[in-house]
Amino acid sequence: MSYILGIDIGGTFLKGEVLKDGSPVSGSETPTDLSDLAGCVEAFAEKLAMGCGARFSEISGVGIGCPGVIDDGTGTVVRAANLGLENYPLRAELEKRLGLPVKIGNDANCAALGEAAFGAGKDVKNSILVTLGTGVGGGIVIDGKLFTGNRGAGAEIGHMVIEKDGEKCTCGRRGCLEAYCSASALTRATREAMENDTSSAMWRTYTHSDCDGRTAFEYMDSDPSAKRVVDTYINRLACGLVNLANIFRPQVILIGGGVSAQGTRLTAPLQRIVDGEMFAAEYAPVEIRCASLGNRAGALGAAALFL
Ligand code: BGC
Repeated sequence: MSYILGIDIGGTFLKGEVLKDGSPVSGSETPTDLSDLAGCVEAFAEKLAMGCGARFSEISGVGIGCPGVIDDGTGTVVRAANLGLENYPLRAELEKRLGLPVKIGNDANCAALGEAAFGAGKDVKNSILVTLGTGVGGGIVIDGKLFTGNRGAGAEIGHMVIEKDGEKCTCGRRGCLEAYCSASALTRATREAMENDTSSAMWRTYTHSDCDGRTAFEYMDSDPSAKRVVDTYINRLACGLVNLANIFRPQVILIGGGVSAQGTRLTAPLQRIVDGEMFAAEYAPVEIRCASLGNRAGALGAAALFL
């Protein structure tokens, strides 16, 4: 019997999956404690192992997906702005605590690997996953293999500028895709739209604190302000997707992360814009699909780092 643990580190939750002889057997999640990240991951790994009855001697490795740039040689988190981490030796710390081999990859890279191995990218060799969550992440699979660039720092799709001198991004630059298309940016745009139109249905139903990335989609059919928020969001995201399609021309672009729960309300208009704007669209089309593993993709892909 051989087990692999996969853990996806998010700003609010750690998600975990266990592979037994290469197949997913169980999963769970726990709140992230950013004040003691290594301790929190260690305790969660132990809980995952216990949950599926695995002895530590039967675990061949622990794969970790973490936001930000990960040094793939040393397993150091070089920079994860959304977690407030810089030069943090996560792999060394976890190997010391767990006494098991640990591999670390960027969270979105892991999710792309997870989708390619077990999910919506299984039937193609070239796919790109764009994750729309707290940040905007990306994973590029070429000929069945992850492309991570020099020292693993590539595929930072969220930091592609789509609006020169636009909104400030967490990375310090302006106009990045993430500054417009993260779930947080969508929530911010929704709040602004509510404030600017106090006759809107959104304003009547939601307060500042309970509106989120779903609100504008929920009201898009009945509230013109909500529709404008959604249209602007989709247009900006489409701009990024067309850029990706023109450079990499994958067979599919998968949309993951919390916002992808909108399904075809998101993918149908994106597909229309991509088909209309992409270079030589008829010659080599790119299908826009929702990722299929939901919030399990990152942890499954992290475990798949050992396959
Ligand atoms: C980070 C990426 C990460 C993405 C999703 C971005 O801000 O730069 O490394 O994959 O957020 O968490």
